[in-house]
Amino acid sequence: MRILVTDSYEAMSREAAKILAGQIWLWPDTVLGLATGSTPVGMYRELIRLHREEGLDFSQVTSFNLDEYVGLGPEDDQSYQAFMHAHLFDQVNIDPARTHVPNGKAEDIEGECDRYEKAIGEAGGIDLQVLGIGRNAHIGFNEPDDHFARQTHRVALKESTIRANSRFFEREADVPRYAISMGIGTILKARRILLLANGREKAQAVYDAVLGDITPEHPASILQFHPQAMLLLDREAASLLPERSKV
Ligand code: F6R
Repeated sequence: MRILVTDSYEAMSREAAKILAGQIWLWPDTVLGLATGSTPVGMYRELIRLHREEGLDFSQVTSFNLDEYVGLGPEDDQSYQAFMHAHLFDQVNIDPARTHVPNGKAEDIEGECDRYEKAIGEAGGIDLQVLGIGRNAHIGFNEPDDHFARQTHRVALKESTIRANSRFFEREADVPRYAISMGIGTILKARRILLLANGREKAQAVYDAVLGDITPEHPASILQFHPQAMLLLDREAASLLPERSKV
């Protein structure tokens, strides 16, 4: 794993946007894997700036989001579909037909998981996957478990994740209890992986991902096996790592 430590959230976001922009400039028809949550908001802001001021062209880009809550659709403000429209899709020239988020309102959730996994394969696979990390080292909605999920699947959210995500909802009771998430296998198939983490509350998860045992108890630890995984951190998220592990 390559580990890059930046001074601040803003610097981390700028570096992340540079990596995505470089990918798009070199391969305009690239397939991106995208994440929601607080962490990538600054990166999306910077990508929008690069689009407006430097002509970064998203017209040929395809995207697949990591996850979506079961029961929420684009008309729900808290859905990840709505998040992506607000924070990126509606502000750059990406073709809506090339953007993909699992359908949380599908009648047949298992069927939707299979369809989503297949669609990623048919697009040629993900070239660059962006990830955040949960405090319990989850990636996507792959929560600590006794096995690594291979494919896009339905997940029951852990209490800790429901609590952490309740900040986006009016009441904790409103947080959906299930989600559709790419599997660990889906994520590992991406050609490159870029994991972003900022803040002291992510430091233990980052430590477990980088230096802990590879175990489904710490889902992000599987990234130690990926040949092209990079962690882009701010100082606080990197605070438990020994100096020598940083680039
Ligand atoms: C979001 C996702 C999650 C988040 C993680 C961190 O699509 O898959 O794994 O990346 O929960 O969330 P934030 O960035 O809000 O701390």
